[in-house]
Amino acid sequence: MNSVSTEHAAEASPAAFWAPFTPMRQFRKQAMMFASADGMYYTTTDGSRILDAMAGLWCVNAGHNQPKIVEAIREAAGRLDFVSSFKMSHPQAIEMAERLIDIAPAGMEQVFFTNSGSEAVDTALKIARAYHQARGDSRRTKFIGRAKGYHGMGFGGLSVSGLGRQKRDFGPLLGEVSHLPLPYDASMRFSAGQPQQGAHYADALSQLLDVQDPSTVAAVIVEPVTGSGGVYPPPHGYLQKLRDICTRHGVLLIFDEVITGFGRVGASFAAQAFGVTPDLMTTAKGLTNGAVPMGGVIVSSAVHEAFMRGPENVPELMHGYTYSAHPLACAAGLATIQLHQELGINEQAAAAALEWQAAALALQGVKHVVDARAIGLLCAVELAPRPDAAGARGAEVAAWCFDHGVLVRASGDVIVISPPLVITNAQIAQVFETLQDALLNTL
Ligand SMILES: Cc1ncc(COP(=O)(O)O)c(C=O)c1O
Repeated sequence: MNSVSTEHAAEASPAAFWAPFTPMRQFRKQAMMFASADGMYYTTTDGSRILDAMAGLWCVNAGHNQPKIVEAIREAAGRLDFVSSFKMSHPQAIEMAERLIDIAPAGMEQVFFTNSGSEAVDTALKIARAYHQARGDSRRTKFIGRAKGYHGMGFGGLSVSGLGRQKRDFGPLLGEVSHLPLPYDASMRFSAGQPQQGAHYADALSQLLDVQDPSTVAAVIVEPVTGSGGVYPPPHGYLQKLRDICTRHGVLLIFDEVITGFGRVGASFAAQAFGVTPDLMTTAKGLTNGAVPMGGVIVSSAVHEAFMRGPENVPELMHGYTYSAHPLACAAGLATIQLHQELGINEQAAAAALEWQAAALALQGVKHVVDARAIGLLCAVELAPRPDAAGARGAEVAAWCFDHGVLVRASGDVIVISPPLVITNAQIAQVFETLQDALLNTL
């Protein structure tokens, strides 16, 4: 594996570094280290070029080190290093909010900036509860998430998450949370794009609301396409049904678009790709092309309006972060939005998705492959686990790909791929050919 082992400790010892979601004892023996990035590629510290089929971590949608984004950050850093967003701001923050609203679905008209997807999710959950409070409906405090949902690592996001293993060590979490089932079954295997059947899975929301008493539920939160949990596209009609049920019961619908935003499914947001508008929407990752941490919650004008009452000298939302709307993040975000428009990245992604989905489907019948799900430029390849070692096969396949020049991510025995959206057809072929070779060369 291209890596830096501890023999390079004099240059950079990983002993003091505690990394997220990482087996540290392994990592300290053999750390995967990157020195630079450009376009579709990383260069490791020992000089290997690696095709980045993960867009960093689902975030570098326009490709690495885009000169216009780099320059915008540099310029901002030399002009205004920091200004608080508490009772003050700066012109690029206002402009960033406006540009984001320009590309958001119609009717979503305000944005609250955070520094990550996790903060965006916790902010969205707090806005949802506070919205009902502001309207005098203080009984609505419960949340509904969904199986396999990933909503970041704050206590709120973890509470609505549908990935039990991630919660195990951190309870008690928020108590008033229940979960929808994943809209997926074996009949949907190898169905590129949205499965035709399966809208009926949304009926579970009506049943859950009956059980919970709908007048006590604040919000439903889902990723339009389940991402980290294994790329599950929504069946046709499913999201619209969720929307209708929420509207009928006065429950807010939150789309967590941290992965699906910024072109990943061929439109600015999945809400537009699927023609369903939520009440609140989170964004992060591709928002700044991964170059500076930033997230945000985009809300409908109806949600925002509910807060704009009471004495004018009192903050309507008692919430915020030191680095909300940080000048460097705003500069990176503005340059990212402009670049997306100049390069027509949404359209490029929509076109590349056809090639991408065909390549994913071609994995049917390949050794170890149980399912391949693809939509936009997202794909999960689910492998049969080894009977005695769950996750081992996934890890080996990812390591094999890395050694052969392609970065993919193993989440247990599911290989997830989500490249920069500027990927060429030849690079798509390289990713899937390398993956096939890895599968054929793995026990
Ligand atoms: C859907 C979704 N929500 C929230 C998050 C959390 O974002 P962050 O890691 O920036 O806190 C992620 C991260 O992968 C995500 O995929």
